Amino acid sequence: MTTAPTAPPVLTVEDLTVVYEVDEPVTAVRNADLTLHRGEILGLAGESGCGKTTLAYAVNRLHRPPARIASGRITFHDRSGEDVDILALEDRELRAFRWDKLSMVFQGAMNALNPVGTVRAQLADTLRAHRPQMGRKEIRDRSEDVLRRVGVDPRRLGSYPHELSGGMRQRVMIAMAMLLEPQIMIMDEPTTALDVVVQRDILREIVRLRDELDFAVVFITHDLPLLLEISDRIAVMLDGEIVELDTAASLYRDAKHPYTQKLLGSFPSLSGDRGAFIRTGVDQTTQTGEPA
Ligand SMILES: Nc1ncnc2c1ncn2[C@@H]1O[C@H](COP(=O)(O)OP(=O)(O)OP(=O)(O)O)[C@@H](O)[C@H]1O
Ligand SMILES: [Mg+2]
Repeated sequence: MTTAPTAPPVLTVEDLTVVYEVDEPVTAVRNADLTLHRGEILGLAGESGCGKTTLAYAVNRLHRPPARIASGRITFHDRSGEDVDILALEDRELRAFRWDKLSMVFQGAMNALNPVGTVRAQLADTLRAHRPQMGRKEIRDRSEDVLRRVGVDPRRLGSYPHELSGGMRQRVMIAMAMLLEPQIMIMDEPTTALDVVVQRDILREIVRLRDELDFAVVFITHDLPLLLEISDRIAVMLDGEIVELDTAASLYRDAKHPYTQKLLGSFPSLSGDRGAFIRTGVDQTTQTGEPA
């Protein structure tokens, strides 16, 4: 059963507007307000083109022209108590901030690994860039640990991306995102390209890791039933606006916005106690062999 979050905020987005300055400018995100709490899984739902990825990029300051942030404030509330104005960070500060405090698994990420680098090299590059004091053994230990956590055999460190299945590549991308123990992970359609069984395994893994490591997750997908299973709260986006934001349970029982009602109605499979499966159905038996 999901309840309203009581943890303090880790990220606050206020009045965010993002415009693509093309011939006929597109306001892809309009006056968005969003608070992400420590350790919560916040689902971001909405149909293709509603602005989910644009919002995620802006939060990371990864947006590029023609995208422009027309208004808004984005504040990261660090564990140390310090508040960071993300939109005011200098490039150097921003590079240090990304991956370290807030990381992102990109839409289509399983094809984003460098094809000519082994998994080991790609993990080590990120560690060396952000943790220059780390020695070789520490780098190896951390790389092995992070792979194990996402269910990939550490022997895979020597593999090249083309030697891995889609599910494994996606797990490696999640491992990369977790590598520096960020306080927020934004996952943009992390499992959409995978078959249902692999998708479920990975989702369980994410929920379990969140429980263990207590990072907050923004989980983006157009798959509302899936979000109802894994999210604490869900934000529904329509044409650039967040039209509803509530706990998964309230949203399921009593959606207020007609668009949310329509979205829920468009999934006839939605019935019974969603949420029970992934939350409590975590396989307790030891995993043998490698995931697909
Ligand atoms: N480079 C661009 N130039 C102009 N318009 C763009 C650009 N990128 C995105 N848009 C527009 O911004 C809007 C939001 O796009 P965005 O990619 O954020 O949607 P999304 O919700 O992530 O969609 P999907 O579910 O398909 O990934 C869309 O109308 C899209 O056409
Ligand atoms: Mg998108």
